[in-house]
Amino acid sequence: YLNYQVPRTRKEIFETLVKGLQRLEYRGYDSAGIAVDGPSKTTSDRNNHSICLIKKTGKVKALDEELYKKDSLNLDEELCTHFGIAHTRWATHGEPSALNSHPHRSDKDNEFVVIHNGIITNYKELKKYLINKGYEFESETDTEVIPKLIKYVYDNRENDSITFSKLVERVIKQLEGAFALVFKSRHFPGEAVATRLVSQHKEEVHEKNSRNRADSSSAINSVGDGRAVEFYFASDASAIIEHTNKVLYMEDDDIAVVTGGKLSIHRMNRQAGEDPVRAIMTLQMELKQIMKGNFDAFMQKEIFEQPESVVNTMRGRICFDTKKVVLGGLKDHLKEIKRCRRLIMIGCGTSFHAAVATRQILEELTELPVMVELASDFLDRITPVFRDDVCFFISQSGETADTLMALRYCKERGALTVGVTNTVGSSICRETDCGVHINAGPEIGVASTKAYTSQFVSLIMFGLMMSEDRLSLQKRREEIINSLKMLPELIKKVLSLDEKIKAIANELYQQRSLLVMGRGFNYATCLEGALKIKEITYMHSEGILAGELKHGPLALVDKHMPVIMIIMRDACYTKCQNALQQVTARSGRPIIICCQDDTELTKNAYQTIELPQTVDCLQGILSVIPLQLMSFHLAVLRGYDVDFPRNLAKSVTVE
Ligand code: F6R
Repeated sequence: YLNYQVPRTRKEIFETLVKGLQRLEYRGYDSAGIAVDGPSKTTSDRNNHSICLIKKTGKVKALDEELYKKDSLNLDEELCTHFGIAHTRWATHGEPSALNSHPHRSDKDNEFVVIHNGIITNYKELKKYLINKGYEFESETDTEVIPKLIKYVYDNRENDSITFSKLVERVIKQLEGAFALVFKSRHFPGEAVATRLVSQHKEEVHEKNSRNRADSSSAINSVGDGRAVEFYFASDASAIIEHTNKVLYMEDDDIAVVTGGKLSIHRMNRQAGEDPVRAIMTLQMELKQIMKGNFDAFMQKEIFEQPESVVNTMRGRICFDTKKVVLGGLKDHLKEIKRCRRLIMIGCGTSFHAAVATRQILEELTELPVMVELASDFLDRITPVFRDDVCFFISQSGETADTLMALRYCKERGALTVGVTNTVGSSICRETDCGVHINAGPEIGVASTKAYTSQFVSLIMFGLMMSEDRLSLQKRREEIINSLKMLPELIKKVLSLDEKIKAIANELYQQRSLLVMGRGFNYATCLEGALKIKEITYMHSEGILAGELKHGPLALVDKHMPVIMIIMRDACYTKCQNALQQVTARSGRPIIICCQDDTELTKNAYQTIELPQTVDCLQGILSVIPLQLMSFHLAVLRGYDVDFPRNLAKSVTVE
């Protein structure tokens, strides 16, 4: 955050930076740090310029409290032109600690300080070199080589007129990996330099065996144009949205410099004819969208937003009268998609489950083979991909490293790439050939909920669009489209079961383990429900395909093991009933999620959660909601912070 010729007290500067960090906390939160100009001695003398650095493990709140403990910071001093930086860290190299957190510094005098998102893969070589030159390292991070290196370049400069951006340029030429960086220096007060390089080098993409070497972490630097007196750099627009909605996205090799109140961007390896102008975009996101409202947790708010978020996903895309479905981002590629050899759906975690959930209906509506792939495994297998494949990359954040790497891998092999993301301007959005925005609105709770149901609806809409001219499928399409229209009302009915689900959670929260069983269209619900439970309640939970019960999992069932069974009125109903009998025969006490008034099932259940019925392929949207609510209540009852589960971050930007 840079204020130019507008007096701000140090306290105001802290508040701006801390608030920005709090908005980003969901991306990673094991420690945080801040660097601002220190109290002035003689303001005009550059050499008297100092930088103070405050770092703390834990949440941003802990850092905030720390700032006010230090009398020496002179909070009321007004600074006319000032540049401050701040960072939240999620540990990759080295444990969460104040020393390992950012900003990192060049030396004890804080001549240069740096914040970094990403990974420096050649840090060991650089560190060795710098240690040989007499530099002392204080952290275990890869990042620390950067401030040391810039000091080394500065100390060995040929002339005194070298600019800050030139120094940065020299440093990043030595770095390998992926990074978004912001530099501050006491030699260049009131100046900011930021840069990013996220893509791997070309030869690494080609060379299969070296793929893992190119640890890539994505980060976007957005630069708010402010009002020409304030400039903001951020890795996510939510950090700056309350100050400006005008942003420009930096691209790889861009170096952005703010000096003398002016922002300029130049490219490191500019190709002839390349346009260095970056368009200023206006963000539609509103601050109130990212606040918690009346809910106790973002996750809870997001679960209850689903009647509206699915409407937003469908808005302007489905005509319920004519039964026409148009996804604007795909329509120009539809012919090509229809001619393809197969569809490959790639994602991680919940986004992968959205692919599993819709696979069967996509096979039915597109009449194409559909593969579903976990991005990391897809890459590990060096899966064959061809020019006539169409590859979907499903990602809420649009920044997940594994999914992004898989995207680049498929692109290299000539496949058509389609993004399904919730984040406009994200790396996956920008790098795919075409795509669908799921329009679920910002999702802040680490456990994904509304993004899942919106991904689900988006993929269904894709299937509907593909099948528009198939006569034999018209009845099926109509049934699905009519059911989509009813979906928001049905979701509301499911949400009204919250109290009942809370009561069941009350009986279960002290258990160690929880199994979730189902099959067919509801198998993905089992996987997703179990993931929700394990990630925020820390209970062991497994999603089990009911058809596999006899092949092993049945051994887990006894009178102590809680089993949630999803048995809806669809083609798998009878088979699911068989599974239920196997569970009850072993004295298991099943909690059954079923369709309303299914008296047959309620007889055999220990508890039931009865849901409104919809068409088979959409039932998974309704059946996942009780499990989202259940995991939420279990986590609260067990005393955990629902929005910040241990060891997890919202955006997984490392492999
Ligand atoms: C689970 C969860 C994760 C993400 C996964 C992929 O609740 O949120 O499993 O789904 O990390 O993230 P995106 O969708 O951002 O690519």
